[in-house]
Amino acid sequence: MSTVDVNVQGDLTIGGIGTGDLVERYGTPLMVYDEGMIRGNAKLFRDAFNESGLKYQVAYASKAFLCKEMVRLAEQENLSLDVVSGGELYTALEAGFPAARIHFHGNNKSEDELLMALEAEIGCFVVDSFLELELLHDLAKEREQEVQILIRVTPGVEAHTHEYITTGQEDSKFGFSISNGQAATAIGLAIRKPYFSLLGLHSHIGSQIFEQEGFDQAIRVLSDFMQRIRIDLDVMMPVLNIGGGFGVRYTEEDQPLPIPTYVKGITDSVKTYFAKNEYPLPEVWVEPGRSMVAEAGTTLYKVGSKKIIPDVRTYVAIDGGMTDNIRPALYQAKYHAVLANRPNEECTELVSIAGKCCESGDMLIWDLMLPPTNYGDILAVFSTGAYGYSMASNYNRIPRPAVVFVDNGESRVVIERETYEDLVRKDR
Ligand code: LLP
Repeated sequence: MSTVDVNVQGDLTIGGIGTGDLVERYGTPLMVYDEGMIRGNAKLFRDAFNESGLKYQVAYASKAFLCKEMVRLAEQENLSLDVVSGGELYTALEAGFPAARIHFHGNNKSEDELLMALEAEIGCFVVDSFLELELLHDLAKEREQEVQILIRVTPGVEAHTHEYITTGQEDSKFGFSISNGQAATAIGLAIRKPYFSLLGLHSHIGSQIFEQEGFDQAIRVLSDFMQRIRIDLDVMMPVLNIGGGFGVRYTEEDQPLPIPTYVKGITDSVKTYFAKNEYPLPEVWVEPGRSMVAEAGTTLYKVGSKKIIPDVRTYVAIDGGMTDNIRPALYQAKYHAVLANRPNEECTELVSIAGKCCESGDMLIWDLMLPPTNYGDILAVFSTGAYGYSMASNYNRIPRPAVVFVDNGESRVVIERETYEDLVRKDR
């Protein structure tokens, strides 16, 4: 949950600013990021890796939230950037991010996207399919340009929050399976291609993971596989990218591990399994998205209509919803919220928070205790910083909200609120 305190007016504050002031200045719905918290998270990752003594890269998974100012922040915090589309790549380049620190993901990168990345001379392509292996190399050869690649593999370990599943046979649209031999085939092909420099392997086992176990198992499988490739193909790989997926707290029930604990678990597993195989310790790359930005984000909404169905339920509607946060509708994701203008008042009403879209499923929070709400109250929904704005839509032709960064009592707009004119701009 975001670090929110209360000011003398009795409003919640974020980054040293009262939410009442923020709403007055920028309107609602409003996405507010506590910039200091994002920087703090980046530092936690860096410090934990420095502690490990291993070489590393922390690549922010930009799909979680991206805009030019977020790119600049990532640059200043010495992060690398994981992009998965021409649009994310374009945003990074427009904001002047060093191309050498960009990693390009995706299971179906187009020829145009590959060319754009080649022209920018990005640091690394994460090759995901046999088609890409050929297409990317053909383009590189035409341009006489050497490119660095990782091969994305599925280690047969899947992790979802509390449980992790080891499956012999992987069923995923991403990457090459280790168990059916396709990963070894892909590596065999890659090392014969003169314009490829094979840095290593990539694997991502899931998102919102609360335990070490899944990472540990994946690293064991990957280390054994790299050892087998060394023996069979006489190839050593200097990089192991273990993906993202570190959990965050949306509600009290969520108990993620602290960032340093995730990192220590990963670096310890790498040291253990690679030493066992007498394999040189690889550089470890990770790709945190959610854990970098989720808890730093709070969405402020204005309370509107209220529908009381006696003995059944009270619906409190706000001026946003699934257009700025589709996660509850899509994944039954849970969030916590408070009344930002009366955060310390006793919560005596059980309500459900409804969005404003023409869709019954547009509900943000079911069964939340709040003080008695009135028209015009401000609702603050916590931990909305990841996959909220980035998955926003214009359903019902609702403009996307403004996004502001706050820090040390200062605020600034990083994405302007969309206008009705924006909505019709591409219409003929
Ligand atoms: N690396 C790769 C290859 C990924 O596929 C992902 C997320 C990440 C890194 C970052 O994972 P994170 O650290 O954020 O968990 N829209 C969903 C999440 C989709 C995640 C997709 N891949 C949600 O809102 O929960």
